[in-house]
Amino acid sequence: MPDTNLIAETDSLEEGGKGHRFNVRNQDGEVMPAFVIRFDYQFFAYLNKCGHIAVELDYMPGEFFTDDGRTLICSTHGAEYAPDTGACLGGPCYGVGLESLGIAEREGRLYLDHENYEVVSKDV
Ligand code: FES
Repeated sequence: MPDTNLIAETDSLEEGGKGHRFNVRNQDGEVMPAFVIRFDYQFFAYLNKCGHIAVELDYMPGEFFTDDGRTLICSTHGAEYAPDTGACLGGPCYGVGLESLGIAEREGRLYLDHENYEVVSKDV
């Protein structure tokens, strides 16, 4: 797996803590924000786009979790999402979840592993 799709070191992500932001490019050349978080001792990545309005979830960079570290929350109107699936749990996402991105863990590093996207920058 090429290092160009490197997202983060696994030990740089705390359980239910601050996530890492990165940008991906799709097959049409469109660049989009994304993020990765650690939850329930696993890692999950999503496009950073609310299901309500297409805005980024985090007001403070990397702050995706509620205070209890159990759900992801959009800072604009408070829609909440399941950290492990991206499903809309409540608020104005009205059943529209986050778009999940495949990732792979190898030797303590996380890589994007998604056929439609490539990493163009990280720690953004
Ligand atoms: S834009 Fe995210 S809840 Fe409204």
